[in-house]
Formats: sequence, C-alpha cells, structure tokens
Amino acid sequence: MRIAVLRETAPGEARVALVPEVVQRLIKSGHQVSVERGAGLAAGFTDADYEKAGARVLESRAEVLTGAELWAHVRRPTAEEIGEAPEGTTLVSMLGVEPTEPLLPALAARRLTFLGLERVPRITRAQSMDVLSSQATVAGYKAVLIGAAELGKLLPMLTTAAGTLAPAKVLVLGAGVAGLQAIATARRLGAVVAGFDVRPAAREQVLSLGATFVGPEVSADYEGEGGYARTLTAEEQAATREALAAAIPQHDLLISTAQVPGRRAPVLVDGKALATLRPGSVVVDLAAETGGNVEGSKAGERVVIGGVVVLGPVQLAATVPLHASQMFARNVLTLVQHLSTKEGALRIDPEDEITKPMLITLNGQVPGGER
Ligand code: NAI
Repeated sequence: MRIAVLRETAPGEARVALVPEVVQRLIKSGHQVSVERGAGLAAGFTDADYEKAGARVLESRAEVLTGAELWAHVRRPTAEEIGEAPEGTTLVSMLGVEPTEPLLPALAARRLTFLGLERVPRITRAQSMDVLSSQATVAGYKAVLIGAAELGKLLPMLTTAAGTLAPAKVLVLGAGVAGLQAIATARRLGAVVAGFDVRPAAREQVLSLGATFVGPEVSADYEGEGGYARTLTAEEQAATREALAAAIPQHDLLISTAQVPGRRAPVLVDGKALATLRPGSVVVDLAAETGGNVEGSKAGERVVIGGVVVLGPVQLAATVPLHASQMFARNVLTLVQHLSTKEGALRIDPEDEITKPMLITLNGQVPGGER
C-alpha cells in the first residue's frame, strides 16, 4: 500500500508518525512510503535518513498525499488539512481530547476512513498498537524530570563534606502506564517513592518497583471494564481523598496520572489537600488536559498556589520526540500489518475486533450513525 507521512502542524508537536527504521521495514514488506521534506527533523530524523530507508521525500504536502492509501499522522489533522487528502484515503492518527464532530463534514466530503489510535482496544493482541501506552511511558518519565527541575531539592540522598542531604519524597497518584514509569524514574534518580492507585493489580506493581503503597486498602470492586479503573462514587472518592490527605503533606513532589477513559479525570488532590504541602513543593498533574487530578491545575500552564508549583503539562511525550516517535511508529507498523492483506493491500474490515472500535468514519460515514 502507499503510505504518506506529513510534517505535523499542531503547535509544539515535534513527533513524526513514521521513523526511518520503520519506513525501511514497511518498504521491505512491499509498501511504498512518501514523506514530506523536513517531516522528521524536529524528532531528529533527516530527509537523508528517510531516503536511505527507501522513502520518497517530496516537497509539497499535495505531492506526498497524491495516490496515498494510508495517511499516518501523530496528532489529528485540522478539517482544512483533511480537505487536502485524496478521496478515499485512510487516515490514522490520535484523536486528542477535543470532540471529533467538527471534523465529520471534511471527512465526509473526502470520503475518508479515519481510525483513532487511542481507541485501539486494550487486548493482548493489540498491545503493540497501543499509542496510549507508548506515549504514557514517555510522559511518565518526563513528568519526573520537569518536576525535579522545579524542586528546590535534589532527589537523591547525598553524603558530602558539607553535610548529608535527605532524599526527596515523591508521591505518584495513579499507577498505570505513566505512573509506573514515573515511579521507576524517580527511584532511579534516588528519591524515596510512594504510589497509589485504586486497582488492586497496580498495588503489586508499585511494590515490585521498590516503592511503598499509600492510601486506603484497594478493593477489587474498583476495577471496571477492560482492566481500567471505573468512576468512583462520591463516597468512595471522599474516602480516597481522606486517606491520601495523611500522606500528601509528607511529600515534596507529587505526580498525578489518574484517568478514567472517556470521563473527566478524578480529583485526588483538592484545594485543602494542596494547602498541606510545604511551600516549594511541586505538583505535576498529567491529567490536566482531561480536567485535572489536582484542584487549580491548568492545562499547559505553570501556576503557583500557596507557594506550591503546580504544572499541568499537555502532550508531554512530544517533548521527547525521538523515542516517542520511535514507539509511535512501531505502533503504526503493527496496525498497518493488521490492516494489510497477504498481498500487502489495505483492507478495512469494519467488523474486526481491533478495527471496529477505532473507526470514526468509514468512507466518510460514521459507522452506525452519528456519535
Ligand atoms: P489510565 O491512563 O486510564 O489511568 C491511569 C491510572 O489511574 C490507572 O492505573 C487507573 O487505575 C488510575 N486511577 C483511575 N482513577 C483513580 C483514582 N480515583 N484514584 C487513583 N488512581 C486512579 O490507565 P493506563 O495507564 O493507560 O492503563 C491502566 C492499565 O491498563 C495498565 O496498568 C494495564 O494493566 C492495562 N493496560 C492493558 C493494555 C493491553 O492489554 N493492551 C495496554 C495498556 C494498559
């Protein structure tokens, strides 16, 4: 199949949908790849790298898209960009947090099939296509670094001629993919780390990383569909916050990653709990874009509340573009393999277990009517 890769246009987006190593693998399997000139530069991949991998590097977006059957993109394109796609192309990209409805007229006009990468089902077979996991791994790592950079303390314990420094204490709320990576990263930097989650399986994983587990006893009942956390009732949330209230003031750096798919993120640190942190403490709220785990956090902003620095980074994975792109591209590669016939042609099966939940539009139409 013919695959197109364009330069990302979303502000601050440095990732690229396919990296040269993956392009080479696609070409070896008989596919053709066209790349817009400069598409990989911000992620550290030159046009020469792509050419060496066998891609055609072209000047204009129109040239890249001409004849493309599959268009791989990191962030969802704008309606205007969708309008530039050849009729009948299959677009594969992340959806982001904004509703997809405004894109529907453009998708319909070009009869595009649009597969949303966040909708890959969380089944073992689809794990290698899961961009939420791959990008959350990067975000969890980077959250510790940006938090540590704001902190007036060093993370590790140091014994020096000028005295002994106590290690910083880090608390990670939500121990899924991002949270576990944050715990591992903070441990590597020498901090004393604690974690919390409502899923019983996460407790074991927190302990296995050498962190302690704080908060109320977790109940198996908190686990919802597909291994995700379900939305807690108001009483359950209050109980969780109360138990955390005792742990929060003892920490210097808080990293929160708690999400409930498709819903507003749960508030785990309210204003009262935040006020118990010592001035100079730092909070990194990775859920800021979906409403925030921390009261007062603002998506994409740094705010100071009562002397506590509260960061609400968005698209943090884009700030580590080389590795984030490498993992993203491997996710796309596995998806392309899934969508290919034995002969290498693109085949969208709207009833397929993996493809079906990803379909925003099929040939321009919303499957099963309006969403
Ligand atoms: P996520 O990004 O939806 O949520 C992050 C974490 O927040 C989760 O661990 C969740 O339990 C936790 N959380 C939600 N509400 C909370 C609350 N009120 N208090 C504290 N914590 C709360 O989840 P993520 O990280 O994307 O994945 C969660 C789990 O799903 C993974 O640990 C893994 O076991 C499973 N998974 C399975 C995959 C597969 O089989 N293909 C792929 C990825 C994840």
